[in-house]
Amino acid sequence: MERTFIVGGNWKMNGDRKGIDEIIKFLRAGSIPANNEVYIGVPSIYLDYVQQRKPKNIEVAAQNCYKVEKGAFTGEISPDMLKDLGVKWVILGHSERRAIFGESDELIAEKTAHALEKGLKVILCVGETLNERESGKTNEVVFRQTKAVADKIKDWKNVVIAYEPVWAIGTGKTATPEQAQEVHDSLRKWIADNISKEVAESIRIQYGGSVTAANAKELAKQKDIDGFLVGGASLKPEFVDIINANAKKPEESKESKK
Ligand code: 13P
Repeated sequence: MERTFIVGGNWKMNGDRKGIDEIIKFLRAGSIPANNEVYIGVPSIYLDYVQQRKPKNIEVAAQNCYKVEKGAFTGEISPDMLKDLGVKWVILGHSERRAIFGESDELIAEKTAHALEKGLKVILCVGETLNERESGKTNEVVFRQTKAVADKIKDWKNVVIAYEPVWAIGTGKTATPEQAQEVHDSLRKWIADNISKEVAESIRIQYGGSVTAANAKELAKQKDIDGFLVGGASLKPEFVDIINANAKKPEESKESKK
């Protein structure tokens, strides 16, 4: 099955209106392959600003949202609020939310279920720390994080998984294409065994962690890597090159990924 290549930028807590104008400028100037999907993960205070200015072929994603409709939850935003602005995507379970803000697998699963119920599309982030990798627990962690969500949702069609090994985030240490492929492949097999073969075949799994224009092409060749979630480099013009990382040379264009 052909899975649509999807590249996201995660701006994290960066940018101001002036900087955003610059980013919009290079996004408008760059070409985006017609078959690729692209989103940018924007700080909540700028969601509306970006939504008003973004190119049509790029969607806006929130970086977080809460698990209920409304109420006394100071500082939080709800899926309904995101929809009110026309935002279609939300990034949930990022390792920074997990590690710095103490979000549990359970909370992330509840947020995912609520966001999906409300009609948002979710980028669900999973990934192991260096310590977990070195003690051979990579699969265990990634499966556990995915299972927490699988216990709460039935329909995966609006979910994209982003595999982001924590040791590769913001460190300049990218997982090698083989390391990333190995985890993507194991996760897809786990999904086939524990959710369904159909979901395993159709779900997109992005790789994230120090993706740059220099390493994106090699990563994109791996059969189970269906796109990227890009942090630092999504603030720079090289993001456009990363969006194009799967573009095939004319002579290769007949070979399609599984
Ligand atoms: P970097 O690309 O800066 O390593 O960040 C990756 C990330 O956390 C994207 O969500």
